Amino acid sequence: MSNAVPQPSPLRQQDPEVAAWLQREDRRQSQSLTLIASENHCSSAVREASQSRITDKYAEGYPQKRYYGGCEVADGIEELARQRAMQLFAGAEDANVQPHSGTTANLSALLALAGVGGRIVGMALKAGGHLSHGHDKSHTGVVFQARQYGVDDRGRIDLDEVRRVVKEHQPKVLIAGGSSYARNIDYAAFAAIAREASAVLLADIAHPAGLIAAGVVPSPVGIADVVTMTTHKTLRGPRGGMILAKKELAKQINSAVFPGSQGGPLVQQIAAKAVAFGEALRPEFRDYQQRVKDNAAYLAERLLGAGLDIVTGGTDNHIVLVDLRKTDVTGAQVEERALAAGLSVNKNAIPGDPRPPMVTSGLRLGTAAVTTRGFGRDQIAIVADVITGLVKGGDPERFRGTIHGLCEAFPLP
Ligand SMILES: Cc1ncc(COP(=O)(O)O)c(C=O)c1O
Repeated sequence: MSNAVPQPSPLRQQDPEVAAWLQREDRRQSQSLTLIASENHCSSAVREASQSRITDKYAEGYPQKRYYGGCEVADGIEELARQRAMQLFAGAEDANVQPHSGTTANLSALLALAGVGGRIVGMALKAGGHLSHGHDKSHTGVVFQARQYGVDDRGRIDLDEVRRVVKEHQPKVLIAGGSSYARNIDYAAFAAIAREASAVLLADIAHPAGLIAAGVVPSPVGIADVVTMTTHKTLRGPRGGMILAKKELAKQINSAVFPGSQGGPLVQQIAAKAVAFGEALRPEFRDYQQRVKDNAAYLAERLLGAGLDIVTGGTDNHIVLVDLRKTDVTGAQVEERALAAGLSVNKNAIPGDPRPPMVTSGLRLGTAAVTTRGFGRDQIAIVADVITGLVKGGDPERFRGTIHGLCEAFPLP
């Protein structure tokens, strides 16, 4: 047996203040449940790659065409990530793995496809879209002439409205995809609408990317001209973005990413993306994504059964959007109560929300992170009961022990 005394990490030794904050975050994540639909827990292999020494390396440009010497390792890593991405998303003709985030991926793709001042059409933030789809507080709403479409009374995309807005605005780019849209998107119908206006179709699959890679929800790859995504949500990789493009658009997309909107790529993140894509290519990943989807469907069913309203009446993916209008609580109040009980959730506008964005009448839930911890139906049932209890005014302290027990029984990966 070794008598070695454990050594403090270099970080703890050199900067105990930052180390303490990071340790606190470790504790926060392990002692609470993440039901934020845009978050997940990546593997320790992904985290190891993302903190590797290659963080020091500048590699402006693309493999074999760099503006710096010593890029042979960066080239190997980026090419591996690209090849794995194209294997993972069947039908992808080209992959750019450099975007630092989903927003940069969208900005770059829109720059390439619409040009400065070009017309774009996307789903309104209020209806479940994303800021980077042309919202006026985002550069995508400033640099481009944007118009937005909404959803119908049931919260579903109304293809007739999409067609009407596209016909009126004559965009160069039509965007399909959202941040709090729980239903499958008919990409073929979107592509037909885009074609009628001689526009290109950009599918933003930031949320369902993992479900799509696993083949458990329909894929836009091969239908949309360009597909953007984040790698850190259901795809369970490191924080970052990616763009898949038809071959004839690849050159434009690459130039719009670098030098158009970014400088040196974060090679450590590209290495971590390669690791995550490798994990996603394993058969277990499909089972995981099926469980994410089944857990979300069951969560929606239990909440509906308890008398809560769900936007669109259910879900096809990992998102459950609770409509709180019938209750006497706001999204912000439930978020606060949930945090006190040990559940990390987010308030979210619902279509037609009468309340402001920092209050809202909705709660967005997602099952990717708890499924990573190993949750199945039994645990989802408990979580649904806790959420119902919190909405109905239950004291968060009453549920803290139950959530703590689940955290202990299902540790972080
Ligand atoms: C649909 C969609 N696109 C883009 C993004 C932006 O990603 P990021 O936060 O990495 O910029 C998000 C983030 O939530 C998203 O939901």
